[in-house]
Amino acid sequence: MKQTNTPPRTREVTQITEGVETSDGDGVNMTRLIATQQLSDLDPFLLLDAFGSDEPGDYLGGFPSHPHRGFETVTYLLAGRMRHKDSAGNEGVIEAGGVQWMTAGKGIVHSEMPEQENGLLQGFQLWVNLPAKAKMTLPGYQEFGAAAIPVEQHPDGTEIRVITGKTDQGTVGPVKNTYVKPLYMDVTLPAGIPFQQTLNAADNSFIYVIEGQIQTGENAHTVTAKQLAILEPTNNEKGRVKVIATEEAARFLLVSGQPLNEPVARGGPFVMNTAEEIRQAFDDFKNNRFQETGRD
Ligand code: FE2
Repeated sequence: MKQTNTPPRTREVTQITEGVETSDGDGVNMTRLIATQQLSDLDPFLLLDAFGSDEPGDYLGGFPSHPHRGFETVTYLLAGRMRHKDSAGNEGVIEAGGVQWMTAGKGIVHSEMPEQENGLLQGFQLWVNLPAKAKMTLPGYQEFGAAAIPVEQHPDGTEIRVITGKTDQGTVGPVKNTYVKPLYMDVTLPAGIPFQQTLNAADNSFIYVIEGQIQTGENAHTVTAKQLAILEPTNNEKGRVKVIATEEAARFLLVSGQPLNEPVARGGPFVMNTAEEIRQAFDDFKNNRFQETGRD
């Protein structure tokens, strides 16, 4: 019998978005890249915000106390300092290069406030959905400073900061998530050096270019700074993303996760499976039924 061994396919770009300028929290100006009219979600990713400004007026208001239920919020800072505090008793300051991965589960109230009065504050917030079976789990919190995030350095100058998931060379990020097996990497790539990473076939994946300009996909799509490119899932077992920085060094996020393929019902800071569950979340929050959680 003849055996065929199909080589992994390269992920192709299906869509490029620049997002929309918006304001959230107490007047924080940012760009929303996922959770827009153009891109409502990219299962299991429900939202992606990019913020970056050295104008204190753009960020000083921060994100005062507000609730969440049914998903995870991930804050990754490139510059500046933010203090996080939540109703499960967690508190910490995230600094440049640090990540905070919070599982809201059945309910949490938290605040994220800039710990600076001037200078650059830059970073991302990503919302990762929880499967129906875990939406009412106890809240959780994983925080890692820059020093705890491994940096894989290649002789060609490539640097890969691994927040979660595993590089092809075996570097593993510290954040754990068994629901969607995410990969979240921050890659700095010198001009002209190719970068490759294997992705699970069924994953939804995207690249967000922070600086510079890259080409990716079979047809060498150009993606420039502040653009998000969606990579199509492949139908063989693994797929690979290939990236090359053109003209100058580039820095980009590569994020990937298993889709949940479940109904998504949104209501402000809550993301559940049905409208009834959203109504229940508002009711529980109003009646203080998830403020002090941490225990059943
Ligand atoms: Fe929040």
